[in-house]
Amino acid sequence: MRFNQKVVFITGAASGIGRAAALQFAKEGARLAISDLNDSGLEETKKMLQDINCDVRSYHLDVSIYDDVKSVISAVHHDFGQLDVALNNAGIGASNNFRTAEHTLDDWDRVVAVNQSGVFYCMKEELAIMSEKATGSIVNISSIAGLKAIPRQIAYAASKHAVIGMTKTAAVEYARFGVRVNAVCPVFTNSPMLEQMFSAKEGLREKLIHTIPLGRYGETSDIVNAILWLSDDQSSFITGLSVPVDGGQTA
Ligand SMILES: NC(=O)c1ccc[n+]([C@@H]2O[C@H](COP(=O)([O-])OP(=O)(O)OC[C@H]3O[C@@H](n4cnc5c(N)ncnc54)[C@H](O)[C@@H]3O)[C@@H](O)[C@H]2O)c1
Repeated sequence: MRFNQKVVFITGAASGIGRAAALQFAKEGARLAISDLNDSGLEETKKMLQDINCDVRSYHLDVSIYDDVKSVISAVHHDFGQLDVALNNAGIGASNNFRTAEHTLDDWDRVVAVNQSGVFYCMKEELAIMSEKATGSIVNISSIAGLKAIPRQIAYAASKHAVIGMTKTAAVEYARFGVRVNAVCPVFTNSPMLEQMFSAKEGLREKLIHTIPLGRYGETSDIVNAILWLSDDQSSFITGLSVPVDGGQTA
């Protein structure tokens, strides 16, 4: 019960890593404020949390719209009276795998709006609340794409590198206010996002596994373990860190 009565806010909680994190936080005693733009998936996550007796509220949210982020995070603070942990997890990939010269402006704008601006908008509101109480932990989800080149995914790689830059900057700015900010960088992890990527290109599943020294794809539980560690006092002397959870790939 590491998170007993702590209030945890999660974006992108309707699926994959966000949903798995919500369930694990709940099992360890947290109260959950879950958000997503996919309402049906969000309600499914809410039901799963209620089934394990979690105190949970759900909020429709598109993280790429600042006014919506502002009003949802303000509502979370009002509804729960506190905000202890924020997991900025919502993210998308580009719809095409084009090289940079052919990468569409639409893909660029959409990916940067969600993955980069979305994390900035959320941190802007979360840090205002947390710094006032001089406590809190923020975990942003970057990617191995934030640490290395991802050919044919320039918008995704740019946005995930930006998450690491924003994590370091906010960590240094808010250390004196008692708030820690860290990031997790997953490698290919079994989730609906990865399934979509594999179904778009035959043979990719078999090919990419050879890039991971530990010889398997990530599971959401691998990523969740790192998220919970960074959210908890066990990592109380760590801030501004971006942790690769990648089976050794970036090494
Ligand atoms: N699965 C992987 O292989 C992998 C690897 C590295 C990084 N990541 C990152 O992990 C995070 C979670 O991905 P996942 O694998 O669970 O994918 P997923 O597609 O299963 O989940 C992403 C969730 O984000 C939500 N979302 C998308 N756009 C949104 C928006 N504008 N506002 C609010 N919610 C929005 C989706 O509805 C979905 O529920 C993402 O940031 C992703 O980039 C995933």
